[in-house]
Amino acid sequence: MAATTIPVDPFDLVILGGTGDLARRKILPALYRRMCSGQLPPEARIIGAARADMNQKKFRDFVRKAITEFSTASPCGDEGIENFLKIIDYEQLDVFAEDGWKRLKKHLRKDVITAFYFSVGPSLFGEIARKLTKHKLTDDTTRIVVEKPFGRDLASAKALNAELTTCFDEHQIYRIDHYLGKETVQNLMAVRFGNALFEPLWNAQHVDHVQITVAEDLGVEGRGAYYDKSGAMRDMVQNHLMQLLCLTAMEPPAKYGADAVRDEKLKVIRALEPVPPGDYVRGQYLGEKPGDSYLDHVNNPDSTTESFIALKVNIANWRWAGTPFYLRTGKRLRARMSEIAVIFKDPPHSIFEGEFNRKGNVLIIRLQPDEGMTLRVTIKEPGPGGMRLMEVPLDMTFAEALGEQIAFLPDAYERLIMDVIRGDQTLFMRGDEVEAAWGWVDPIRAEWIKSGARPLPYDTGSSGPEDSLMLLHRDGRRWRKIKS
Ligand code: NDP
Ligand code: BG6
Repeated sequence: MAATTIPVDPFDLVILGGTGDLARRKILPALYRRMCSGQLPPEARIIGAARADMNQKKFRDFVRKAITEFSTASPCGDEGIENFLKIIDYEQLDVFAEDGWKRLKKHLRKDVITAFYFSVGPSLFGEIARKLTKHKLTDDTTRIVVEKPFGRDLASAKALNAELTTCFDEHQIYRIDHYLGKETVQNLMAVRFGNALFEPLWNAQHVDHVQITVAEDLGVEGRGAYYDKSGAMRDMVQNHLMQLLCLTAMEPPAKYGADAVRDEKLKVIRALEPVPPGDYVRGQYLGEKPGDSYLDHVNNPDSTTESFIALKVNIANWRWAGTPFYLRTGKRLRARMSEIAVIFKDPPHSIFEGEFNRKGNVLIIRLQPDEGMTLRVTIKEPGPGGMRLMEVPLDMTFAEALGEQIAFLPDAYERLIMDVIRGDQTLFMRGDEVEAAWGWVDPIRAEWIKSGARPLPYDTGSSGPEDSLMLLHRDGRRWRKIKS
């Protein structure tokens, strides 16, 4: 079964920060892969812009290197790369100067979709928006794509929203959260709202609790300077885990459309209860050898920034009151594993006697690795010898179910950039949603800053600090194992 690819309309996509790390590792390879799959029309144009002294040829060499290095799947050969390079151009531009914008304008065509990808540090977002407007590079069909982090707290997110909405209407602003572009995240909506099976059980009456884990085995690597000013709560929970929580907890939207879905997510965020100090655990990884700890990686021996956080989150609404959502994320953990596990309540009464303990079903939605879904069910142990029960997984690993097709599934950036061109904002965060998320995060952070508490140390390769296990043990529950 071949993946369906519908070409998008002709476009000019300007990547502001076209020479940066994100452009090199994600955006340019994503666009190349979309071209290989036949989704880019021949009239598409991609224009990189940055201060670096490059011309079209030098930038094309840069792009060739980037896609050779970072796009292994779905290559379309040397000829494909050369074809892709033909649609690439470059303009030298300093956001703060005037002349580059005038030159950039000459690259843009009137009769195609125009999108500007802000792939630069967040401090430049407002200035870019102003310059685009001042130099009349936009009209009301222009789209802007804004990278994370979208603010550092509620005040800065509000200020940024105000800066952007002075120049652009909300329907033109695409705030990226790449987790929303992941295949399984969208599948979560398909499973919930495309089947009659799950939705009647998807509530506090039947669900004991939900666990959302985004574990990484890597540390902060080369991003220590950024990360130490951010930490796991702001880098991961406020955005990625919050989105997973919203999609798991939200009410069915009336239809699959940008505002219908985002309205429902917003209601979930607004229903989140404040998290008291006893309901979260922060951690910082230790090194396996000297010089290898979080403090070494960020070059800050006094840092109190967390590289791990676990939280118990309560949602104060009719559907979820009494069913906690436990979230955890961290770096340098045992394995790279992201999943949402919905743990259903035990059957109310067992008709079976003996050693088998009644166990609730578990639905596991795996984001990475091995995207897929597993439903743990109880069956009879095969063979003679009486009625013995066992638990088995009903497994749907997408790689097995979809075969070769999985290799051609677009990654998050491919899907999201194509959605920008299509004008579909469903998988992007709305301004009020981002602000509401910060409004929930800020008081939690304020409390730990006030207390001056240091994050607890945890070993590289572990599941985080011991206290995070206690967060569930004290409720008579346990975390699922972190394993790849
Ligand atoms: P980099 O520092 O690698 O790249 C920044 C880019 O901006 C470069 O192309 C730089 O080129 C350009 N730039 C900087 N100042 C100016 C200026 N005054 N005028 C014009 N261009 C300028 O950053 P990243 O690519 O890593 O990150 C870009 C954005 O994406 C950030 O907001 C980041 O938070 C976000 N992001 C990045 C991720 C990643 O994996 N890298 C992941 C998630 C989000 P030059 O110096 O030549 O001008
Ligand atoms: C980014 C965070 O947004 O997401 C990183 O800034 C993190 O710290 C990354 O490593 C995780 O993304 P993924 O897709 O690899 O799970």
